[in-house]
Amino acid sequence: MEILLAKSAGFCFGVKRATNMAFDAAREHPKICSHGPIIHSPQMVEKLREQGVDVVSDIDEINDGAVIIRSHGISADELHRILAKDLNIIDATCPFVKKAQDIAGQLSRDGYAVVLAGEAEHPEVQGIISYAGNKDVFTVANLEEAEKLPYLKKIGIVAQTTQSYDNFARIVEACLSKCQELRVFNTICDATTVRQQEARSLAGQADLMLVIGGYNSANTSRLARICKKIQPVTYHIETAAEIRDEWFGQIDSVGITAGASTPQWIIDEVYERVAQVGK
Ligand code: F3S
Repeated sequence: MEILLAKSAGFCFGVKRATNMAFDAAREHPKICSHGPIIHSPQMVEKLREQGVDVVSDIDEINDGAVIIRSHGISADELHRILAKDLNIIDATCPFVKKAQDIAGQLSRDGYAVVLAGEAEHPEVQGIISYAGNKDVFTVANLEEAEKLPYLKKIGIVAQTTQSYDNFARIVEACLSKCQELRVFNTICDATTVRQQEARSLAGQADLMLVIGGYNSANTSRLARICKKIQPVTYHIETAAEIRDEWFGQIDSVGITAGASTPQWIIDEVYERVAQVGK
């Protein structure tokens, strides 16, 4: 059985940076926590917990020691509440997420209604829109939602960093007919685009696709959806333990990819498990 492993599978720049910062900080600070999971990988969060990094969701419960701000950022209000406390702050927000936050804030200050192309419930999205304030801010997940926007004089668009380019382009086009003036900031991160392109290509070649990553990881779930459209035999798994021998009965080639928050050791374990089944 041929195994096609995506070159881009696994940690992106921002996640690598955040986890390295967390491990370094864990060595330095006897009392340390992260505000929410630092990345969307339950296995990596557990590894950090073993190094003393607790996950605390409620800022009211963080009163001393050090706090790590997760890679996909927090809201402006949460940041102010953390800054008001006497804490050592390790800001592991990915610089690309920070850029999207800054653009949303600037657009709002410049009088634009801010449209964020993304998933309303995702913490990164909630963080970005919070920097735009409360007035004329809209989160739209797709073309259908964009078409329901009211007519607005000036619209500025930013994207959740893990959006698919095609979805973003459709939303931008819909916004063209919703305003007199449109400013578009493509804040989709390259890491996402590269992973999605490679996933598409592998799904077109393989008889079965494995997409590895946290079930709570938006970019992994999106990779799985992209692959499933091309190769219906696609499984989204978190670890090698979920792999079943019976999946591989009539299979000649397996494609493997992983989300941007999937640790390398999990990818290696999946690869080895698939290689064993294919012997
Ligand atoms: Fe940052 Fe892009 Fe990763 S926004 S966290 S480098 S997917």
